[in-house]
Amino acid sequence: MKKLIIANWKMSPASIKEAKTLLAGYRRLIKNPRAEIVAAPPLNYLFLFERSSRFKLGSQDIFWENEGAHTGEISPKMLQSSGVKYAVVGHSEKRALGENDAIINKKIRAGLEAGLKIILAVGEKSRENPDFWKTIKHQLLAGLKGIKKKFAKNIIVAYEPVWAIGSGKTDSPEKLFEITILIRKVLAEIFGRNKALKTPILYGGSVEPENAASFLRVDGINGLLVGSASLNAKKFSAIAKAAR
Ligand code: PGA
Repeated sequence: MKKLIIANWKMSPASIKEAKTLLAGYRRLIKNPRAEIVAAPPLNYLFLFERSSRFKLGSQDIFWENEGAHTGEISPKMLQSSGVKYAVVGHSEKRALGENDAIINKKIRAGLEAGLKIILAVGEKSRENPDFWKTIKHQLLAGLKGIKKKFAKNIIVAYEPVWAIGSGKTDSPEKLFEITILIRKVLAEIFGRNKALKTPILYGGSVEPENAASFLRVDGINGLLVGSASLNAKKFSAIAKAAR
């Protein structure tokens, strides 16, 4: 399985001009990636990416309806027809704004029906409570509730401990290994063992060129979800190169 490296630009960069420069840096520095590279820019920058490019397109979020009177929303089908292949759902920054498991579940269903690959983001707020993994389990069970088994192949789980996002703190490879096992156990409850073994699990949270390889070496980790380092073409290309 090819590693999957996702660039989550979040609400950056601040202008078209800077977005063009960033993308030009990606094009210059990431020539023949061995990993599947996905760029998830703000949607108003999507048009900068040509369809046949070496970067697959991702969306940082989706809506749960495909048409109608939903001011301000963009549907999964619209994204799919614009060349978007992947969609992140349940990012902790969306959860922090009130997105709950029921909404996340509706978004996942709609995204899958529209033919998108869904990156479900899960993760605990803190490690202090030894039961922290119950949060992860709950987020997986609730987010994937009622999802048909035939869609399992289009599900990717991004494990992003909230305390590691944008903080410079990271998980240890040993702990990460344990958590991938827990995640696959829950996925096996939902989709069965075989499908669970095939579901890619990504790590996200303060990924940098210096630590990318140590996460990618963890058994059971199939890629990375990169935030702030993806806004620097040099850093992001170094992370992409760590995936071989
Ligand atoms: P970070 O963000 O790499 O800046 O920690 C990761 C994410 O939020 O996906």
